[in-house]
Formats: sequence, C-alpha cells, structure tokens
Amino acid sequence: DQTKTPYEAIGGAKTVRAIVEAFYPRVQAHPLLKPIFPEDITPVMEKQRLFLTQFLGGPPLYSEKYGHPMLRARHLPFPITPARAEAWLACMSEALDEAGVQGAVRESLWARLVMAAHHMVNTEDQ
Ligand code: HEM
Repeated sequence: DQTKTPYEAIGGAKTVRAIVEAFYPRVQAHPLLKPIFPEDITPVMEKQRLFLTQFLGGPPLYSEKYGHPMLRARHLPFPITPARAEAWLACMSEALDEAGVQGAVRESLWARLVMAAHHMVNTEDQ
C-alpha cells in the first residue's frame, strides 16, 4: 500500500522498539563499537527509538525533544572510521532481521541507512 509510511509498513512503534532492542546488544558486543558507546546504553536506545520513528515517517518524536537531528555533527565527538560504519550496518542488518523487517520497505530503508552510515564517517581507519 503506497499510502502507508515506512513506519506504518513495518508495523509502527512496536517494530521500532524491536529494532532498537535487537540492535544495541549487538553494538555492545562488537569489538569496534563497544569502546565508543557509554556503558549505560539506555539513554542512547531511547534517542534512537525517537530518531528512527521520525526517520521512517512516523511522528517527529526526536525533533520535538532534541531539535534538528544534525546527526553528522552529533557524531563528530566519536571517531567513526569506515570499519565502524560497516560494523554499525552489520549490527543493524541483524537487528532488522530479528525484528522481521522484510520486503520493499526493508530495501528502501536499508539504502537510506547505508548512505547515512557512510555520511557519518569522520576519520580514517587506524
Ligand atoms: C548516537 C555511533 C551511525 C543515529 C551515537 C553515539 C555513538 C554513535 C558513539 C553517541 C552515544 C552517546 O550518547 O554517548 C555511531 C557509529 C555509527 C553511527 C559508530 C556508524 C556509522 C548512525 C546512523 C544513525 C545514527 C547511520 C541514524 C540512521 C544516532 C542517534 C544518536 C546516535 C539518533 C543519538 C544522538 C543524540 O545524542 O541525540 N551514535 N553511529 N547513528 N546515533 Fe549513531
């Protein structure tokens, strides 16, 4: 149904929550990602839940609370290498599988996430 937003097409709030809950344990277990994330991941999970909701065309929950996302700028304090971008995407791909995000909406979301992840790179691999 072309009139649905991607947010609606994936199943709305409960699917966004499932993605976030599948993603961060993988991030925290990943040797390249673990060192740049805080030990208390709960606030990051909540921000990502708000962000993904609006990124998918749902209510603009992130911007209501934090203003314009400016994600590249918000990531500048963290050394994001090409290898870390690939690691982030690998964790996200598994999270989307676990949350059951499939089909055309998965493909278009995936293309946008790949672009966003590459855009976040701000330093070279060591
Ligand atoms: C925050 C890493 C890509 C969305 C963060 C934080 C780190 C991080 C370390 C901050 C955690 C803290 O608050 O201490 C990475 C890495 C990426 C990546 C290594 C690899 C390319 C992305 C992408 C998106 C995204 C592609 C969105 C599609 C967010 C959001 C936040 C965040 C919404 C919270 C921003 C805020 O502080 O309000 N990320 N990230 N990240 N990231 Fe990423």
